[in-house]
Amino acid sequence: MPARYLVTSALPYANGPIHFGHLAGAYLNADIFVRYKRLTGAEVLFVCGTDEHGAPILVNAEKEGAHPRDYTDRWHQAIKTSFERVDIAFDHFSRTSRPVHHELTQHFFRRLVERGAITTRVDDQVYCETCKRELPDRFVTGTCPRCGFDAARGDECPRCAAAFDATELKDPRCKTCGAKASKRPSKHWYLDLPALRPELEAWLEGRFPGWKPNVVGEVKKYLADLKPRPITRDLQWGVPVPLEEAKDRVFYVWFDAPIGYISSTREWAAQQGKPADEWERWWKDPGTQLVHFIGKDNIAFHAVIFPSMLLGQREGYVLPDVPANEFLNLEGQKFSTSGGWFIAIDDFVDRFPADTLRWTLTRSAPETRDSDFTYKDFQTRVNAELLGTFGNFASRVLKFVQARYQGAVPAAQADPGEPERRALEALRAGVAAAAAELDRYSTRGAAEKVLEVGYAANKLIEERQPFKLINTDPAAAATTINVAVRLLEGLAVLLFPFVPGTATRLWAQLGLEGDPTRRRWQDAAEPADPAGRAIGALDQHLFQRVEDKTVEAEVARLRAGAAPAPTKAEAPPAAEAGKPTIPFEAFAALDLRVAKVVSAEAVPKADKLLRLELELAGGERRTVLSGIRAWYAPEALVGRQVVYLANLEPKKIRGVVSQGMVLAANDVGDVAVLLQPERAVPDGARVS
Ligand code: 2FM
Ligand code: ZN
Repeated sequence: MPARYLVTSALPYANGPIHFGHLAGAYLNADIFVRYKRLTGAEVLFVCGTDEHGAPILVNAEKEGAHPRDYTDRWHQAIKTSFERVDIAFDHFSRTSRPVHHELTQHFFRRLVERGAITTRVDDQVYCETCKRELPDRFVTGTCPRCGFDAARGDECPRCAAAFDATELKDPRCKTCGAKASKRPSKHWYLDLPALRPELEAWLEGRFPGWKPNVVGEVKKYLADLKPRPITRDLQWGVPVPLEEAKDRVFYVWFDAPIGYISSTREWAAQQGKPADEWERWWKDPGTQLVHFIGKDNIAFHAVIFPSMLLGQREGYVLPDVPANEFLNLEGQKFSTSGGWFIAIDDFVDRFPADTLRWTLTRSAPETRDSDFTYKDFQTRVNAELLGTFGNFASRVLKFVQARYQGAVPAAQADPGEPERRALEALRAGVAAAAAELDRYSTRGAAEKVLEVGYAANKLIEERQPFKLINTDPAAAATTINVAVRLLEGLAVLLFPFVPGTATRLWAQLGLEGDPTRRRWQDAAEPADPAGRAIGALDQHLFQRVEDKTVEAEVARLRAGAAPAPTKAEAPPAAEAGKPTIPFEAFAALDLRVAKVVSAEAVPKADKLLRLELELAGGERRTVLSGIRAWYAPEALVGRQVVYLANLEPKKIRGVVSQGMVLAANDVGDVAVLLQPERAVPDGARVS
């Protein structure tokens, strides 16, 4: 088992708030793992920072009329604060806009060139003469080459879900200035992944057995179609490509972002006044285990592309473990910052303690499949688990010590009874079992094990009833209480990675010095005899109950904040003018129906598509592919009525025949909002 861990969490884009979905995916689990490993005595460094380049940041800064530097300054600070408020304790939180990062990215590129792992290619690109720049997908709009929808995006059509290259759009236009765009040939640089394949595969073979099936599956899929990847862009914001002939180019954000983990480490070492080669101890000493905590959308980048870049350096970089999580939904729907369907972290911790959020998100962490945050579940986790299991146990035991033993822990009899032995054994087993879960990066599994220790502790009190026993057998009652205080000390250590603030308060209530990091994880299994120790003040509750009316109010608040009416500055474009008038017959030719969604699932290998089974009158079923995956969780659609165009020519997409399409309105930010009858009508009802 390596005793040195370099832990990273995906660098969040400095392009909006982070929400629960992010926390549950790549930050909270990393923080818990780091706290646990530190408790075991391992040397651990935890780095992160904001990912500040890329076209979307530029688009949004431009929309605000801000310089991307000012725009990212603001988001960097906001994101850093949000992490602090939920006790995500990075050792260093850097930014990819810093000079150290630019220099290192350019070094990486030069080494890859020397190594023969960079190729070039000349291809047509969409170009705006007015703005004098090539237009990345997000900067282009035009007519869909398939269905003719005239507000298609640069990479796909929101109406028919076709995916294409921006150069295939008919009538491409620049989204920034509205001018007609043209095509021109342009040279770009590529990371030649096939050239690095042999080393990559040799390394992966050894890692697959320890990785989650979702990660191995993604990696294999990616390897099956391994191609050179473009790594340059014609943009003014990013890390400049260090070549004279590419002086108007920057690196694609995905090339520079993961290098940010290394530059964050270097910056940390320099700020700590460490020797110049300190960062290399973390990145190049084989005794380091590198761990990348990420969400599932980042698997290929961390398990294939970045390792290839590291191997391509030929500088002896260590290679990572990649415990990727699936996604978290919110009350049955996908998180959508632009659609208002999210809970801002700052807002939440203004009203509830950070530890209640940490615990709930850990208990429902999307480790093996997508999961859901609901306020109802939050209430149960707080009331039944944090308060009902840990909080009540602590307060009953400690208040009893205060009331009946003058605030000093009573001594145990030499030979405690069977219930005490069982409870102490449950603690020992819990310490080992939670460690085993954490060693395989399952924070959810570990929390379950800690909870089981809490159940065993409560069982001891129920079996022994020390509050009554003290009247008939005071020595036995004292023994139970002494053991209960030991259990509390063990629990404080076990809980520390998950709920550090509360575990520290409990530590003080137990009359112990400092915080639970004074102990080793292993010591939690055998707490020292506390007999005679004065406990601390009990004036603060460890947890507060969450009431039904609070849950109702929070859900109502969330719904009220969802999909806010657009402000003037971001009003959607006025109804598309200029479409030619059609005769009524042309409209009457559309067979529009109301249909019920009877099943919905993601389409493999298509990030944007959902496959819907629709039911019409008389149980007739139709299959439709729809490009709404970014905005709707499949399970949230089942049972819902939609408006369906039934007589559209069927089309095969990703091997599935799509029989028509469901209708959606385009909200601000290209968010698709499904149309639905204002009240339920029979399935198959005509729309006219
Ligand atoms: O998906 C994202 O949010 C990216 N900003 C993650 C980057 S991770 C790393 F490579 F920096
Ligand atoms: Zn333009």
